[in-house]
Amino acid sequence: MSPQLIVNSVKCGEIAPAFYGLERPVLEYELPPLLYTFDELEPYLDEGTAKMHYFQYHGTYIQEVNVILKRWRRSNVKGKHASRMSLIDILRNLSHIPSMYKNDLKNYGSGLLNHNLYWATISPNPQGEPRMPVGQIADKINTKFGSYLEFKATFTDMASNHFGSGFVWLCRNHSSSLSSEDLVIMTTDNENSPLSHNLLPILGIDIWEHAYIMKLHNQKSKYIENWWYLVDWHQVNNLAEWWTGLKLHDEL
Ligand SMILES: [Fe+2]
Repeated sequence: MSPQLIVNSVKCGEIAPAFYGLERPVLEYELPPLLYTFDELEPYLDEGTAKMHYFQYHGTYIQEVNVILKRWRRSNVKGKHASRMSLIDILRNLSHIPSMYKNDLKNYGSGLLNHNLYWATISPNPQGEPRMPVGQIADKINTKFGSYLEFKATFTDMASNHFGSGFVWLCRNHSSSLSSEDLVIMTTDNENSPLSHNLLPILGIDIWEHAYIMKLHNQKSKYIENWWYLVDWHQVNNLAEWWTGLKLHDEL
């Protein structure tokens, strides 16, 4: 499938994965174009839920972030320059954010970024074949967790048993190259980001009910089982590599 911008079935040419651009300061965030249409995610993720998730939940987070950043930029609070930092740098430095904006950026800003990564690391699976890690992430997972199946079992267990809303992540550290020792599975509550824990997310499953409610209702385990069929390990590798090349700022 060729990488094309497809929003509401309008094709607008080639585009980049949804995590590209998050490293840059922008005046206004927008919903990221995706490399697929939502009906193509069927039967593993139903079109109705995916559309609601993208336009209503993800879209709302983006609107809220834009409002907060605009208000911050117009204010006279100390440290206003930080409002022009990238969202990644803001989330990595929440302790430096003025208190009046900090909590909203922690919630909505992380929500924006989490969902960009969620959509970027899945893709249609029309053949319905089980997917396995590829490339360097396959080697690193085997080294760190023993095997892909052991990794998958641990990740699934954490997703299944996480109480309430949140995400489960495979993360790495920020270093010059991807090391198996860096890999860690973690959960975050609500919309919190691994970035605020000094970790870099490379794969994440949204386990809020809104991610599966319309068709699967309360069948969280079925949603998780289906999600593994959509994980795009090529994009996971791309994301893991992408972090390597970023210059991250630790002082706002
Ligand atoms: Fe979500």
